[in-house]
Formats: sequence, C-alpha cells, structure tokens
Amino acid sequence: MAKERFSRIGFILAAAGAAVGLGNIWKFPYITGIYGGGAFVAVYLITVLLIGFSLLAGEMLVGYKGGKDAVSSFEIAAPEGKKGWKFAGFMLFSGLVIMTFYSVVIGWIFHYIYLAFTGALPTDIESAKATFDTLTSSAPLTATAWHLLSVLFVAFVLLRGIKGGIEKTNLILMPALMLILAGLTLYAMRFDGFTKALHFLFAPDWSKINSEAIVRAVGHAFFTLSIGIGTMVTYAASMSHKQSVFKAAFWVTLLDTLIALTAGVMLYSFIFQFGENPGQGPGLVFKTMPVVLAQLGTTGAVIGAVFFIALAFAGLTSAISLTEPAVEYFIQRFHWSRAKSVTINSTLYFIVGVGAILSYTKAYGDIFSIGSKPLFDALEFSTDSILLPLGGLAIALFVGYALPAKERDALVKHQAAPWLYRAWLFSLRYIAPLGILFMMLNNFGIIKV
Ligand code: PHE
Repeated sequence: MAKERFSRIGFILAAAGAAVGLGNIWKFPYITGIYGGGAFVAVYLITVLLIGFSLLAGEMLVGYKGGKDAVSSFEIAAPEGKKGWKFAGFMLFSGLVIMTFYSVVIGWIFHYIYLAFTGALPTDIESAKATFDTLTSSAPLTATAWHLLSVLFVAFVLLRGIKGGIEKTNLILMPALMLILAGLTLYAMRFDGFTKALHFLFAPDWSKINSEAIVRAVGHAFFTLSIGIGTMVTYAASMSHKQSVFKAAFWVTLLDTLIALTAGVMLYSFIFQFGENPGQGPGLVFKTMPVVLAQLGTTGAVIGAVFFIALAFAGLTSAISLTEPAVEYFIQRFHWSRAKSVTINSTLYFIVGVGAILSYTKAYGDIFSIGSKPLFDALEFSTDSILLPLGGLAIALFVGYALPAKERDALVKHQAAPWLYRAWLFSLRYIAPLGILFMMLNNFGIIKV
C-alpha cells in the first residue's frame, strides 16, 4: 500500500494543530501571569526565535529524511556506524507520558463545556473555586468519565489514519479555533482592559525576571512548539517532498506564537476589565474566566461556551499528535495493526491518567504520589523540565553534528536563503545545546543566575 501523505496545507495545519494546544491558551496566559508579564513574554519570544524555530525545522528534517516512525527515522537518517542514534527516537514515549495528564485537563474542559451548556458555570469567585476544587479533588469518577471521553475521541481520529483522521480533523478544528479566537479578541478590543492587557504582556519590567522565570520561559517555548517528543518527526515523515521544511517550520512557529499572544491578550482584556489579578496559576482559565464572564450576563454565557469549545479544539488536535508517534512506532517496528496499536497505547495512558486524577483527590492523594509531588505534578514536571529538553538536545546534536553535511545540504540547503541556513546550523550547533544545558543545570539548582 502506498504511503498516506498529507497535502501541503494539511501538513501545516496538522503540525500547527500539534503545536497550538493547551500550552497556548491555558498555560501560556497563566505562567505569564505568575512570572509578571512582559519580561517573561520577551524571554519566551527570544527562545522561540533563537532556538525553537531551528529545533522545529531540525526535527521535521529527521522525519522528512527517514519517512517512518521516530525510531526508524533516526536510524535511517544516521550515517553507518552511528546507528545507535535510533535510541534518540525513544523520545516518542514522552508523548504518552504527557498524555496521561494532558487528557485529564481536556476532560476538565469538557466538564466546563457541559456546565456552560447547562447554564451552570459558576458566577462568583467562591463558587468558582468550589466548582474547580470539587472536580479535581473530590469527584474522581466525573473527572475519569470526561478523561475517558477525551481518550476515545483521540483514538477514534487515530483509527482513521493520516488523511481521513489526522488531516481531516485538523482541517476542520484549526480554522474553527482561529475564527473563535479572532472573534473573542475583536469583542475584547472594546474594553479598557485591552490596553492594560497589551501593556502587561508587551512592556517588559526586567526587575521581575529571575532564574526560575527564565527556566520556565525556555521550557514553555519547547512545550508549546511540540519539540523533543518525536511528534514533528512522525508528522514530517508523511509530508510531501515537494514541500519546504523551512517554510513549514516557519508557518508553524508563526501560527503557534500568534495564537498564544492573541489568547493572552484576549484573556487578560477580560481579566483586567473586571478587576481580577493575573497571578492565579493553573486555575486562571477555570476559576477566573467564568466569574469574569458572568458579569456580562447572557453574552458572557455564550462567550464562555465558545471559549471552552475553542480550548477543547486546541487540546484535542495536540492530543492526537502526542499519541500518534507511539501508535506509528508499534505499527512500523512490531507490525501491529493500527487498531491494535491505538487500542493498546490509549488504554495505557488512560490507566496512568486515572492515577493522575486520583493523585489530586483527598482520599487517594497519599498513595498516588512520587516523593512529595502528586503523580499529576510529577508527570508534568518530568516532561516539561527533563524529557522535552533532553529530546531537544538530541535533535540539536543529531542534525547539527551527526547527520552527514552532504546529505543534509542535498536535502534542504536549497530551501533556505544562505544566511538563514548558516544561522540555522549555528543555532543547532551552539545556541540550542548551550541554552538547553544551561536551562537543565539551572532547573536542578546546580547553577543559579
Ligand atoms: N504543543 C502542545 C501545547 O502547546 C503540547 C505538545 C507537546 C503537543 C509536545 C505535542 C508534543 O499544548
């Protein structure tokens, strides 16, 4: 059977769908809030520009060359005598680790869509806290049911393969997401809060930046671009060879960044307009937004429903891309059928996800913890701060040093302007490895800035 391939626009939207996720609309606004706004955004943008784009193009290149699952693609791309690089492909398992908690958060979003449609979104801050806390700490069955729905949706799409499943879903959900965000942002422009939001996000106050903020900003740049878990290797394995890797990476970086910034401006316009404070952490979207919107009456209820739907769309297209690398791996390397691979992988992260749900409950929190961290937080920390940066480092070293220059040049040199090509290699060889190393040492307290 001929290999299924994405259309050009299908590949850009699928890769953008992978990148644009909960990271952009849920996480970016709240960590920006915690770390004080503009300066944090500036560090994030600089990282995206200097390291993120290069790693993204590098990761796509491995799939473009290999044309298979992440492990096989590294193996094929590696020169003779260096086939051990295939082990870098095992970064694909980070996707399953992320899915254990990512799918749980999508489940929370489903619950909020349900609340919005039944007119039951909380209207004051006390009940908003109670609603969120009940869902996360004392209603594991509800949370598990919504988590299961998210698992089933993703499995359903993946069962239908690259074109009929992944491409088609992204062709519908991504434009819908962008339209919704644009609409909400246009609506928010009427508020005084809009100018405050712009000021908060784009006027850096450098006194607010510390080493922790830098680490988080760098880590977030990786997470949001989906770097270091083999997603882009796996997707690019099915891209057309007539398409340019650099152009695709450019579009994905641009869309991902624009959508994060737009979501940030939109959310903060609402938040500042109604006098809420930005530094509230992960509950920002779940606790603050409903309360803020309640002040707009019926319009607010509609906005709430639409907003959570957009959030679900963003999350689901990323969830698909987090699971596909493992699905593809077992299909290619172990000759499993797609149905078998989807079923086994989905079941696996579903079960660990239930552990993550229980780790937030009062009743079982003690059992489901690792050290002093609830399993949920341990899973999140391990991916954000360890697995993704390691995956990124592997990409940088592989494309920067191990991949024979002749082959690399033959594949993609003609796709970029000479200065860009040189800058790209410089970033992969020096800026990215040093940046990642610095971030990891800082993270573990070995060095402090
Ligand atoms: N980039 C996605 C987000 O911002 C998360 C993700 C990470 C998806 C790694 C795929 C691979 O939510």
